[in-house]
Amino acid sequence: MYRIGQAEIKQLQKLFDSGAIFRYGSGGECDRFERNWARYVGVEHCRMTRSGTSALYAALVGLGVGPGDQVIVPAYTYMATALAVLGAGAIPVIADVDESLTLCPKDLKRRITKHTRAIIPVHMVGLPCDMKRITKIARKRKLLVLEDACQAVGGGYEGRMLGSWGHAGAFSFNFFKNMTCGEGGAFVTNAEAVHQRGSVAVDCCSFYWNPEEEREELQFAGPNFRGSEVEGAILNVQLRRIRGMLKTMRAHKQELLQIGLEAGLESIKNNSLDYECGTHLGFLFATEDEARSFCNRLADQGVSSFLPMDTGRHVYTRWEPILRYQGAHHSALNPFKLPANRKARVKYKLDTCQDSLDVLARAVLVSMHPNNTKVKLRKMGEAIRAAAD
Ligand SMILES: Cc1ncc(COP(=O)(O)O)c(C=O)c1O
Repeated sequence: MYRIGQAEIKQLQKLFDSGAIFRYGSGGECDRFERNWARYVGVEHCRMTRSGTSALYAALVGLGVGPGDQVIVPAYTYMATALAVLGAGAIPVIADVDESLTLCPKDLKRRITKHTRAIIPVHMVGLPCDMKRITKIARKRKLLVLEDACQAVGGGYEGRMLGSWGHAGAFSFNFFKNMTCGEGGAFVTNAEAVHQRGSVAVDCCSFYWNPEEEREELQFAGPNFRGSEVEGAILNVQLRRIRGMLKTMRAHKQELLQIGLEAGLESIKNNSLDYECGTHLGFLFATEDEARSFCNRLADQGVSSFLPMDTGRHVYTRWEPILRYQGAHHSALNPFKLPANRKARVKYKLDTCQDSLDVLARAVLVSMHPNNTKVKLRKMGEAIRAAAD
C-alpha cells in the first residue's frame, strides 16, 4: 500500500554524501525516526528493529515474557506472531477471530488459563481489534497486551493510535506494509523498563545506546536486530506520507462500502471505521461458495479480491512449525520441550479454531490503494454493484 519515490532518493543521496551510514556516533536518521514514530503513535519510547518479527520478539523480551508463560494469539495472523512467542521461550495459545477478522474478545476470555501472561491482539489487514473490550479483559485478569500492528502501520482505533493501547506495540516496515524501507520494524512502549530490556534484545551492544549499560536488569545475552541509517532515512520520508495516504484509503473504503451495502452485501464487522487504516474493504457471505463466486465475479471485471482463508501462513492451519511442535532449531531450546513449560504446553489441532475457519472462508477482502484514481474507484464501485447482483 506504500508510496515511494524521489523524496526517498534525495534523502538517501544526502545520507550517502555525508558518509554517516552507521546509526551511532555520527548518524541521526534512526534517532530521528524513533523520536518521531513514538510521537506519531503517542507513546514515550520506540526502538527500530530489522523486521516486525524481531520487533515482536524484542517487545516480548522487554515485557519479561518467557518459559512458563502462555501468550494468546489469534487464529488469523501471519505465523510470525506465534513464532515470536516461541522465540521468547513461551507457548502460543491460539484463539478465534470473530466477524471483524480480529481477535474475538469472547473466545479470548475462554482461552485464558492460570498460565496466561500476555495477549497479542493483531490488527490484521489494517483492521483494528476491539481494543476497548480486549484491554478491559486484560486489566481484569492482570495480563500484558502486546499489539501486533505490523499490518496496520499508522492506523488508529477510537481516536487513539494502534500500538498505544497495549503495554507495547510492534510494527513491520517490510515490502507489503503502509510504510516501507524494504525490510524493517519497530517496537514502542510507554514503559522505560520495557524499552530498555527490549533494546537489549535488539542490540546486544548496549554500550552504543545506553549510558546506564551497567544496570543489573540489562545483563543478559541478546542478538542484533539493529536498524540502519539507510532504513531510518527512508522511513523518515515515509512518515511524512502516511497520514495523507491512510486518509485517502479510508475515504475510498467508506465510499465502496456504502455502494456494497446499498447493493445488499453484508459487511465484515468494522471496529473503528473512522480511525482504521482503510487498506481493506471486507464483505461477509453466508457460505464459502457465495464468497468465492463474488470473488470470481469481481475478477471478471478486473477487480482483484481474496478470501482470508487462502492466505497461506496467515491462517493457523498452515503454521507447520507450530503444529509440529518444532519451536526452535535445536530440541534442547524447543519451548515445547522445556521443563519450565510442562504445565503451559497445549495441544494444537486443525480444528482448534473452527469458528475462525468458517468466517475466514466466508469473507472477501478488496485491497485499497492510495494511488487509486476517481475513475478507478468508480469502476471498482460498478464492479461491486454488478458482482453483488
Ligand atoms: C501480522 C504480522 N505480524 C508480524 C509480521 C512480521 O513482520 P516481518 O515480515 O517484518 O518480520 C507480519 C509480516 O508480514 C505480519 O503481517
